Amino acid sequence: MSGGLALQSNPAPIVACTIARDVQIFDLLIDDIEAELGEAWGDLSFLEAQTFLNQPDAETLEFVAIAIDDEDEPEIELVCSIIRLAKSKDIKVMLIAEDVSPAALHKLLQSGTDDFVPYPLLERAFHDSLARIRSNTPAPAEIGDHVSEGAESIQPTTTDIKDHVLFAVQSMAGGTGATTLAVNLAWELANIDKKLSPSVCLLDLDLQFGSTSTYLDLPRREVIYEVLSDAQTMDVDAFKQALLSFNQRLSVFTAPSDILPLDIIGQEEVKALLRLARETFDVVVVDMPSTIVGWSETVMNEADVYFATLELDMRSAQNTMRFIKALQAEGLPTDKMHYVLNRAPRNLDLSGKGRVKRLAESLDIELKTQLPDGTKQVSQACDHGVPLADMARKNPLRKEILKLAKTLHEAIAVQAVAR
Ligand SMILES: Nc1ncnc2c1ncn2[C@@H]1O[C@H](COP(=O)(O)OP(=O)(O)O)[C@@H](O)[C@H]1O
Ligand SMILES: [Mg+2]
Repeated sequence: MSGGLALQSNPAPIVACTIARDVQIFDLLIDDIEAELGEAWGDLSFLEAQTFLNQPDAETLEFVAIAIDDEDEPEIELVCSIIRLAKSKDIKVMLIAEDVSPAALHKLLQSGTDDFVPYPLLERAFHDSLARIRSNTPAPAEIGDHVSEGAESIQPTTTDIKDHVLFAVQSMAGGTGATTLAVNLAWELANIDKKLSPSVCLLDLDLQFGSTSTYLDLPRREVIYEVLSDAQTMDVDAFKQALLSFNQRLSVFTAPSDILPLDIIGQEEVKALLRLARETFDVVVVDMPSTIVGWSETVMNEADVYFATLELDMRSAQNTMRFIKALQAEGLPTDKMHYVLNRAPRNLDLSGKGRVKRLAESLDIELKTQLPDGTKQVSQACDHGVPLADMARKNPLRKEILKLAKTLHEAIAVQAVAR
């Protein structure tokens, strides 16, 4: 990617530009435009765009991607004038908007926008929009359900989950963000759709230092110990009694109040507990201890996807190597493993990207999901006992977890329809 100033001296022909207050806020857009165009694009601020679009250099532009959020609303007239200017130069306009009022959106669309995509960008949304722009077909829906209150929401018809899925998260080295991912993923899934969100249960099986209750400000309860030991004879109603609700949307089975030996439960109890949770909820998210225990295998076999979080350091690399060896030695299902690189280097950090590539190659794994550093906001949200979505909606870590939740939710819906 080239910056606004570097844009003019870049020898590669630039075919597109992003135009935003600060394009770094829209990191999903950066990822997608890079995937489509490689280096052949630049980024401009609103003021730079006004100047640049009037220069001869702008003639090579095929389209501009204007990205705005609610903070840009006071500047809406400026943005509209940029859209009109681009159109007068025969440059296509893609509008990417987050939390913009329907009235502002209407104005922007009226100014000549060729295609509109809501932000955060869903999988392939940018790709499809670009295809529409290139083939001159308008977007199928102008305003999606992401637009704040008042806009008609468009409900997908296939998200009525009939199958019950289980995700587990384990840290390859303590502190690599497994619990952060489990808690926030569970919360995003529980809120994924205004009307058809799945019912979600977060099960904290890190029996000793489980911190889901801290991260969601829920009390640890004595009763958990009984449920764990009686799981095999317990019915769904008794299981439900042991759950706590977070904001009426997420049910949580917290870790016990006292530190218990991890082998206080065995494979049969864990199996029974997972069955109860699965019977009761559409989606179960299990937060695992970072150590391997007797019943890790049980959870691995039951899980649909088993997430393993790691970071870009020697500690994670070596632990993950040993973890993979153990899986192979025990004949455990390696195909369910989904490795998540937390605190991943930014897109523009090329040496960091090189290190990620080498890490993945040396472990012979894919690191498709990479979570950015979410700064202090993340631990602050944990300390306040609220999910990131409720305290720091625009945090880059939150956005990436939301993206993951959407992908999983779509996969669940597809699976449900296929059955
Ligand atoms: N991507 C991130 N950006 C910033 N802080 C993070 C990130 N991931 C995790 N943290 C913080 O790191 C600490 C450890 O995270 P946690 O999820 O409890 O790790 P684990 O469960 O793997 O031991 C927490 O304070 C959490 O807020
Ligand atoms: Mg943890």
